Amino acid sequence: MKVLLAGGAGYIGTHTAVEMAAAGYDVVIADNFYNSKPEAVRRVEALVGKKIPCYLLDVANKKQLSEVFEKEKIDVVVHFAGLKAVGESTRIPVAYYRNNLDTTLTLLEVMQEQGCRRLIFSSSATVYGEPEKLPLVETMKPGFCASPYGWTKWMIEQILRDACKAEPDLSVVLLRYFNPIGAHESGTIGEDPQGIPNNLFPYIAQVAVGKRPKLSIFGNDYPTKDGTCVRDYIHVVDLAKGHVKAAAYAMEHDGLETINLGTGVGYSVLEMVQAFERINGVPIPFEFAPRRPGDVPECYADASKAKELLGWEAEKTLEDMCRDTYRWQSMNPQGYPES
Ligand code: WQD
Repeated sequence: MKVLLAGGAGYIGTHTAVEMAAAGYDVVIADNFYNSKPEAVRRVEALVGKKIPCYLLDVANKKQLSEVFEKEKIDVVVHFAGLKAVGESTRIPVAYYRNNLDTTLTLLEVMQEQGCRRLIFSSSATVYGEPEKLPLVETMKPGFCASPYGWTKWMIEQILRDACKAEPDLSVVLLRYFNPIGAHESGTIGEDPQGIPNNLFPYIAQVAVGKRPKLSIFGNDYPTKDGTCVRDYIHVVDLAKGHVKAAAYAMEHDGLETINLGTGVGYSVLEMVQAFERINGVPIPFEFAPRRPGDVPECYADASKAKELLGWEAEKTLEDMCRDTYRWQSMNPQGYPES
């Protein structure tokens, strides 16, 4: 079986490449390296012990993408190719809609022309919007998204739903990720944000290695257990394994399924900071700062559908998430080297 990871050189894509290869898939990557580096693919190759065909292209380039399908005879696609910075998406929304929708539409057209009928889409819990009720269940209606980034995920889900209605042989699994953190236990691949990290764990990791003086915790007056926001953090290796299960499911079922990938457990920002300090034995200086616009107080998954349908559940612990994040950051304080 051959799997194409579109946007596969990024944080979740590289971890998925490792788990797909371990499960026996032939892995092919297509990436424009807009937000990733070739070194990440070389590190994946070192981990899996073989070469991975890697195409430098924009997934929205139909001609180039078609050539990959013609050459590689792809059985299933995992679609990670997209812009993903929430804050940036509010500043350049048109670029977000253009890029994220274009990559998806081109991929769908090429898959139809080439007879590839299996797709796993990298969606997000952000499509639930402000939760009416917790935990978040797949049957809840998608909500009002807080950012253009979130709306692109919401719109792509709708495009894929419509495509599946019209094309009965198409199989799509929408994976709604909660908050992926952690890194491969080797410490050789991990999250490599450009500039100042937007997300909590990359920021904590940079404070831990002395790259930033202190963390700002956005808001301590939320109606939660300790006043800070609660999220469902999931180890990226567990998340990657969820893609392997989803691909196997898509090989055997037509139609569309929507599946949460989370642990079902929520931790507050303060709990995460304290866990990181305790497990790694490093201090994380912090200060409380005003709330960040768009943050919801609490967000965690009902993870039961993934277990029932895919036979998947998160296995890694909070300790694994903290330890692996720190190992990656300590071994690669500047992220991946250029080129
Ligand atoms: C978690 C908590 C912050 C940074 C976003 C996207 C989601 C997905 C993952 C993917 C919040 C607080 C953060 C900091 C802080 N995106 N925080 N200080 O917002 O739950 O989810 O990232 O590509 O779609 O919406 O994750 O890690 O940014 O924040 O206090 O410096 O940590 O306010 O409560 P979020 P996050």
